[in-house]
Amino acid sequence: MPATKLDGKALSATIRAEIAAVVATRAATGKRPPGLAAVLVGDNPASHVYVRNKQKACSDVGFVSWLHTLPADTTQAGLLELIEKLNHDPAVHGILVQLPLPKQIDEDAVIRAVSPSKDVDCFHPENVGLLAAGHPRYYPCTPHGVVQLLIRNGITTSGKEVIVVGRSNIVGKPQAMMLMQKPTKANPAGGDATVTVAHTRTRDLAAVCRRAEILIVAAGALHAITPDMVAPGATVIDVGMHSVNGKLAGDVHPGVADVAGAMSPVPGGVGPMTIAMLLVNTLSAAEKIDG
Ligand code: GUN
Repeated sequence: MPATKLDGKALSATIRAEIAAVVATRAATGKRPPGLAAVLVGDNPASHVYVRNKQKACSDVGFVSWLHTLPADTTQAGLLELIEKLNHDPAVHGILVQLPLPKQIDEDAVIRAVSPSKDVDCFHPENVGLLAAGHPRYYPCTPHGVVQLLIRNGITTSGKEVIVVGRSNIVGKPQAMMLMQKPTKANPAGGDATVTVAHTRTRDLAAVCRRAEILIVAAGALHAITPDMVAPGATVIDVGMHSVNGKLAGDVHPGVADVAGAMSPVPGGVGPMTIAMLLVNTLSAAEKIDG
């Protein structure tokens, strides 16, 4: 029997409707709309698509958004100057600098330049530290999207054996942190799971993956997870995104759907959830900054 589809597209629409209702209530009390400034440097075609989707999501829920496109040869000083301006703009609640950045720019310096209170990606070391300490200011968008995709489909994580494939700063590391943590009032998305992080140097990756009751794949490699690597009935979350002959494909081979109990599709799984969580963070930033 094919796996149950974990439909991120439908769930993100529900969450976006919830956010739109809060924005409408805020507007009725005279509050300004949440504002997101996106910064796009260079001409990475995938980045252009991602940022366009984020902007459309903003306008659909009643946020204001600004797109700052800078040429590929932008200097670091020029980019830092723009970020400083956005840090001080009261209409801007969230700042998103789309990664990757061109080679001449030090990504770490840019991440550190964004005011932590406006860091809706949750990339700034202060926010990563708060997350690690169990007192998050924001949750990082993709890992939070994965957690919501599980919870809102009735898939509990407490006590479960979770394998995360990938150790990036954007997904693998924060995903593991969130899922291992105890849920508290300050950290409601803590998952209480037993978490293992696997990566390119992991010995016998297939055997490690087969241990998973929940397998979260952010390997960055097309179809890296094949049906033989998945325990029958496991939940499989595919964070991968690859363009193959003009179509999107994931890190998980489609044949896994014949083995897994539940699985997120690509497209229409984690991608739309990431954008929904960006909206959650931008609304939260507006609430923190404007009340
Ligand atoms: N590049 C790939 N994923 C992301 C993301 O979630 N945020 C930003 N800013 N850049 C990315």
